[in-house]
Amino acid sequence: MQNNHDLTAIVEKLKQAKKICILTGAGFSAESGIPTFRDKQTGLWENFRAEELASVQGFQKNPELVWQWYQMRRNAIKDKQPNPAHHALAQWQQHADKLGQTITLISQNVDDLHEQAGSLVYKLHGNLWQNKCSQCGLPYTHEVKQTKELLFCEQCHGKIRPDVVWFGENLPKHEWQVAELAAFHCDVFISIGTSSTVYPAAGLADIAKESPGYPMTSVIEINPNPSLAKVVDYFIPEKAGEFLPQLVERMCK
Ligand code: OAD
Repeated sequence: MQNNHDLTAIVEKLKQAKKICILTGAGFSAESGIPTFRDKQTGLWENFRAEELASVQGFQKNPELVWQWYQMRRNAIKDKQPNPAHHALAQWQQHADKLGQTITLISQNVDDLHEQAGSLVYKLHGNLWQNKCSQCGLPYTHEVKQTKELLFCEQCHGKIRPDVVWFGENLPKHEWQVAELAAFHCDVFISIGTSSTVYPAAGLADIAKESPGYPMTSVIEINPNPSLAKVVDYFIPEKAGEFLPQLVERMCK
């Protein structure tokens, strides 16, 4: 692995790429003021128990607690804005055609900051702003505002839950298929702001690296701290919001 801070070398590598797959995680929104999950002290899972709040069993045991925790998270992020990394990535995606590139953006984030910045994004872990019935799965499209009380499905009277993926649940089928295909066929895979601990998302870099038709695929990681990813070729120990604008400026000029 190269501890490669050489922007010129990264730009050269990326300019040669036709297909680029980008995976983002909680660190991408950190500079917007949204806490990550596993960073020391500030990470959500440092202060809350994931198995109680992000699992079907936790919801069955204490649905009020889980609902209120997600309402609290919604309240905490509702005014957050895309940061320079979101804007830079959206700009790159919008220039991709001109550059002769296909950029597939996959995110584990449940906030909507990529969309707010103007990116097309495939969300592997759902959307914090959407709800569905915990029993029949029907989307619940009424506005829920700040309500702390549980809401119920009009069709089957099941309890309403946030439409995010909890531990032990499958990822949305279409989004995962897009992600697997994009990783399999890419020339460069870029992992940004994820600890690479949660599968199957964390396995996308391996899929990219090991796909037989693309033996030269490079994996780039942008993260102030090295993640658990095993297949990184270029490690850039920088914050997304500081590095990406410089990179995209060079790519798009
Ligand atoms: P984590 O909290 O596990 O990891 C965040 C990563 O972002 C860490 O590796 C940090 O070093 C890095 N980081 C922090 N600030 C950064 C910055 N400014 N720029 C770049 N990187 C930065 O978050 P995820 O890997 O996204 O699952 O967590 C994966 C999944 O675990 C989440 O989607 C969530 C959680 O449980 C579900 O909700 C299903």
